[in-house]
Amino acid sequence: MLYTQRKNELLDQPKTWMITGVAGFIGSNLLETLLKLNQNVVGLDNFSTGFQHNLDEVRGLVTDEQWQRFRFIQGDIRELASCHEACSGVDYILHQAALGSVPRSIEDPITTNENNISGFLNMLVAGRDAGVSRMVYAASSSTYGDHPDLPKVEDKIGNPLSPYAVTKLVNELYAQVFARTYGFKTIGLRYFNIFGRRQDPDGAYAAVIPKWFAGLLQQETVFINGDGETSRDFCFIDNCVQANLMAATADNEQAADQVYNVAFGQRTSLNELYALIRERVSKKFPPAADAKPEYRDFRAGDVRHSLADISKAGDLIGYQPEYSIHKGLDKAADWYIQRFTK
Ligand SMILES: NC(=O)c1ccc[n+]([C@@H]2O[C@H](COP(=O)([O-])OP(=O)(O)OC[C@H]3O[C@@H](n4cnc5c(N)ncnc54)[C@H](O)[C@@H]3O)[C@@H](O)[C@H]2O)c1
Repeated sequence: MLYTQRKNELLDQPKTWMITGVAGFIGSNLLETLLKLNQNVVGLDNFSTGFQHNLDEVRGLVTDEQWQRFRFIQGDIRELASCHEACSGVDYILHQAALGSVPRSIEDPITTNENNISGFLNMLVAGRDAGVSRMVYAASSSTYGDHPDLPKVEDKIGNPLSPYAVTKLVNELYAQVFARTYGFKTIGLRYFNIFGRRQDPDGAYAAVIPKWFAGLLQQETVFINGDGETSRDFCFIDNCVQANLMAATADNEQAADQVYNVAFGQRTSLNELYALIRERVSKKFPPAADAKPEYRDFRAGDVRHSLADISKAGDLIGYQPEYSIHKGLDKAADWYIQRFTK
């Protein structure tokens, strides 16, 4: 398979990678995979929504020698000097730092804008100035907004439904302009509900899967917004890591200066998701077997259904997701059960 081949090539010829948001969920998983492939990694994070314990966990999963290939900079992408420092001597940037969450952006659009747009622009400038080969960045399925078509195809987007969605759309526009104006190569990955180990289950803006694992394991009420028939294309973290590595290293001429859907390509309703999580939790934690969710109002800014067409990423960067939602939830369950029952 192409991904295995690509990983072998990286093992033979290590590169230097820069990950923004390295202490977060997706960033720390990218770090883990890259260090296990003996790559050199510079990481930048301001710990606004990321954690030292994510870095500590990765530290425990790699060898001393691999960990020595990692340089961490505590800094903020809103500071251009930190971005310049982090980009020096780097082959590929994997830009993950941003403030996620639609509700957070509705409550505080200014802070979301500063981190997600000004920070993004700083990273483009720093990457361009440092002569980085390519910047792969976290875009979002929220860019499809109110476009009714399913599955979502990259070139058909609607109006954004939240400040967060605006910021992710603006990222794509800036990336296009940097390609045209300066020849700086980027690839945007429109993530669709990524889940898995180290995704934060706490706080007001936690995503649904970690929140439900935590709720069931702690015997707290689990809420479903709306009637539960809202659906999403849930995508396990290892698929997302694959997409990043394949996008950064794709040598196909047409691959750069594009955006790609990163998903599994299957739709699951919230009611189905609840049943899948409860089934997995109750195997190890029997009190969860009788738990029932509580339904409440739909949430502002949420789209009703989401499903990705992932053929473009398959064709142009060789993305072939290995984990279905079932296989991904098995792995996620192991991690959350260990975390909450230790
Ligand atoms: N998780 C998903 O399902 C999903 C879906 C679509 C898009 N995304 C995007 O993927 C990226 C990573 O998301 P995640 O789920 O890992 O979130 P996360 O909150 O776990 O990670 C984000 C990281 O960025 C850091 N960060 C934020 N602002 C920063 C700043 N100004 N300077 C330096 N570091 C900063 C945070 O401290 C955190 O470690 C984000 O851009 C997010 O918008 C995620």
